[in-house]
Amino acid sequence: MTDTQNSYLFDTGSEQGGDHMDHLAHLFDVHTVSIIGPIGLQPGQRCLDVGAGGGSVVRWLAKQVGPSGEVVAVDIDTSRLGDGPGITVVGADINEGLVGAQAGPYDLIHARLTLLHLPDREAILSTLADALAPGGWLVIGDATSRPLRVLSDHCMRDVAIWERIQYLSHEVVGPAAGMDLTWGYRISDQMVAAGLAHLYGTENSQTATGGSPGLLVHAALNTQAHDALLAAGAEEWEMQRYQELCHDPTFRIWNYQLVYLRGQKPR
Ligand SMILES: C[S@@+](CC[C@H](N)C(=O)[O-])C[C@H]1O[C@@H](n2cnc3c(N)ncnc32)[C@H](O)[C@@H]1O
Repeated sequence: MTDTQNSYLFDTGSEQGGDHMDHLAHLFDVHTVSIIGPIGLQPGQRCLDVGAGGGSVVRWLAKQVGPSGEVVAVDIDTSRLGDGPGITVVGADINEGLVGAQAGPYDLIHARLTLLHLPDREAILSTLADALAPGGWLVIGDATSRPLRVLSDHCMRDVAIWERIQYLSHEVVGPAAGMDLTWGYRISDQMVAAGLAHLYGTENSQTATGGSPGLLVHAALNTQAHDALLAAGAEEWEMQRYQELCHDPTFRIWNYQLVYLRGQKPR
């Protein structure tokens, strides 16, 4: 257990946190469906979504396993998770392990953009692998540290503001709260160490234009981390210009690279 294990930077229940979850669903659900789909979930199976956020993946999983199956949605903040047929919402800290209503075995365990925030991610991945039924799948998706390069022809001052706020977010404020964007590159090795087989992974990245979900997600992240960024040295005028860039339809970047890995527990 580390000092930063409960220091998640963002507030899923806030208005900006709701926008954040909506944008993540818009950007990444397609990749989630693409990596889980070929597993071929069956009616009656049992799934777990760790750090379920806005619940879009939970709802999709629930459709796959039907009312005879179960999807357990775990998050420290369950304010955006609704119960439904076959859905069990559990407010819990994954650092405390999988006990009670969260206990395995599971046919599928998924965690997207959650472990990168948790300092004990290696131990948590091992706990999740242990909770799989024989033949069950672990699916982990996280963003990497690949720089989010400006592609549009904006002035050097705007590019410098974008790069400085990105640096403060990803290399100062985030790591101080336990975030590690290099984790995405280690998921494959950790799955092997946890005894999983049949590993398969994907990397995806798109360009994003100001005003679209790909840049509005940065506006929502930046607003939630506003005070921490100022404390780390960001200036209010830089924060304002950053927000303007996120809404500017002529501003364009390469967005986050999302790494997804799946691995199966031997039967
Ligand atoms: C970046 S969001 C990702 C949400 C969702 N998985 C997605 O990709 O759309 C991370 C989620 O993990 C949750 N979370 C953070 N720390 C947690 C912890 N220790 N245990 C359980 N959930 C946690 C947050 O509340 C938040 O909903």
